[in-house]
Amino acid sequence: MSRRFYIETVGCQMNVLDSELVAETLLRAGYTRAPSPREADTILFNTCSVRQHAEDKVYSALGRLKHLKERRPQTIIGVLGCMAQKDREAVFRRAPHVDVVVGPGQLGDLPELLRRVEAGKGPQLEVALDRRAADRRTVEQSFGRFDPVRLAEARPHPWQAMVRIMTGCDKFCSYCIVPRVRGPEQCRPAEEIEAEVRRLADQGCREVTLLGQTVNSYRSTSSGRTMRLSDLLERLSGIEGIRRLRFVTNYPRHMTPDLLQAVRDLPKVCPYLHVPAQSGSDAVLRRMKRGYTVGQYRQMLAAIRQTVPQAAVTSDFIVGFCGETEEDFQQTVALVREARFKNAFIFKYSPRPGTKSAELYADDVPDEVKRRRNHELLAIQNAISLQENQPFVGRVVEVLVEGPSKVARKGADSGETTQLTGRTVCDRIVVFDGPRAWTGKFARVKIEAADALTLFGRVVQVDG
Ligand code: 5AD
Ligand code: SF4
Repeated sequence: MSRRFYIETVGCQMNVLDSELVAETLLRAGYTRAPSPREADTILFNTCSVRQHAEDKVYSALGRLKHLKERRPQTIIGVLGCMAQKDREAVFRRAPHVDVVVGPGQLGDLPELLRRVEAGKGPQLEVALDRRAADRRTVEQSFGRFDPVRLAEARPHPWQAMVRIMTGCDKFCSYCIVPRVRGPEQCRPAEEIEAEVRRLADQGCREVTLLGQTVNSYRSTSSGRTMRLSDLLERLSGIEGIRRLRFVTNYPRHMTPDLLQAVRDLPKVCPYLHVPAQSGSDAVLRRMKRGYTVGQYRQMLAAIRQTVPQAAVTSDFIVGFCGETEEDFQQTVALVREARFKNAFIFKYSPRPGTKSAELYADDVPDEVKRRRNHELLAIQNAISLQENQPFVGRVVEVLVEGPSKVARKGADSGETTQLTGRTVCDRIVVFDGPRAWTGKFARVKIEAADALTLFGRVVQVDG
């Protein structure tokens, strides 16, 4: 009988993509997918190390599996991704019933490692080198490539796909563990990305999101020609069948004029730009080693507004970073008020062992202050998100229908019409009624109401 796997994912879109690729690799190796961990004999966690909370969640989920492992010793438990790379053999110490620990650069080896466990060879550990363990080239090579040929069946929706264009990060922001656990920045060759997107288009994919930690620093040279992200977008725009192209996450200093012009001039490229600011205080940005001032961030925003006035801009902020005073925080509030982001993700600073800020500075903002700043900033941003959504009332927008809304999924499928959701080019969520059969189609929706997170409307036209 074939083995049945279940994979639980925490963290960013890169992890969501990795889990999809792991699923597809296991499906190819003859595994089947279990609908829940209880029905699986191989339980995998694809993990995140960006904040302590994400790690705690996985360790307590692992703790809960201890009894299951005692009852059913043949169950294989695996810890994959960033936390595996960061904690290495310490995972086995904290959770001795884990069988496999695999870093993000070794995911391609997973089927073989699972086979070894099944063959009774004991716990298996495969991780890349630490960034300081050897020269750059050797460390790069130790972070193996994991870009298997895509299978439409492994994706939640065949008409939507994420495509990795680079791995790792070289920015070393002082709070961030990513450069250590995802390794040095490495870009995939443009031809390879293009071939993958063509294959996706042939599988019926209409919307592609290009992924990289600092996606707009993409650079790849072949036959003497250097391709930037703007060049890549132009190349991918030529692929028939693809209707939307997005890219995340952007680094403020690399938001160059050529890229903004590409967003303006290439109709398939969505006017949606996620460019994390992290703070509105120069003193904090300096300690974060972000490499820009608030003035430079403002100039970059002005350039976006000038070149692509209709763009939806989103951001990330960390509140309660080491030494953040009330005045620093008020400067962040001022930036948020002025920037008018479509939305912003706000995080409480979480010190990560092994990062510069954890080494150099005390985590000196009390948790209740972090919490209060988080709420305050979120309330301000929510009011702005609502104001930014309001002008859509009365307009007709085009959405790609993603399927039944959360509410509709919970309830029974009561016949023909249900509540559906879709997304606009600027990444706004739209809720409307229609048959499930519209899923995967493009629809034009007249917006009748809006709140801070959602537009509500009525379909006026559906494609094909
Ligand atoms: N603590 C809190 N938030 C963090 N982020 C990254 N590292 C940390 C940390 N140590 C946030 C940043 C980043 C987002 C993905 O997570 O805002 O943009
Ligand atoms: Fe982390 Fe900074 Fe790299 Fe983003 S740019 S992944 S915050 S080090």
